Amino acid sequence: MKKVLVTGANEQLGQCIQKIASTYSNLEFSLKNSKDFDITNPESVKATFDSTTFDFCINCAAYTNVEQAEKTPAKAFKVNAKKVKSFLFIFLQIMFLMAKKRGVFIFRHAQSNKRIWHF
Ligand SMILES: NC(=O)c1ccc[n+]([C@@H]2O[C@H](COP(=O)([O-])OP(=O)(O)OC[C@H]3O[C@@H](n4cnc5c(N)ncnc54)[C@H](OP(=O)(O)O)[C@@H]3O)[C@@H](O)[C@H]2O)c1
Repeated sequence: MKKVLVTGANEQLGQCIQKIASTYSNLEFSLKNSKDFDITNPESVKATFDSTTFDFCINCAAYTNVEQAEKTPAKAFKVNAKKVKSFLFIFLQIMFLMAKKRGVFIFRHAQSNKRIWHF
């Protein structure tokens, strides 16, 4: 069964995903709120990725309070941009390692279906 990590799962978008999660019986959702899994906390990120290998991640974690973001732009940038980049990087590293282990071709051009990278 494919595993899906959902970050920031307690609010708007996360709640919508929680509602439909049970209709996807072939997917196992791991729904994390900001206390279980803080994307700005490297230990929290590492602990989660060390304990489980996820196939997908739906990142609903976001700093969405616009007025507050104007007062604390560094914090907003950290959650909405900087940490998303490092998060994506961790994911790509895991994908590369998995692909290498399995010896499969994984990256194909969407239209032509040509291999872009292979292992
Ligand atoms: N709502 C929509 O209709 C919609 C549609 C398309 C795209 N989006 C996008 O989806 C994302 C989420 O939107 P939303 O409307 O669901 O926002 P939201 O209701 O404000 O929810 C944001 C979630 O992120 C969590 N969060 C904040 N900082 C975090 C951190 N450092 N680590 C982990 N979780 C953290 C919050 O947890 P706490 O409450 O505990 O702080 C909250 O659960 C945004 O990027 C938004 O642009 C939303």
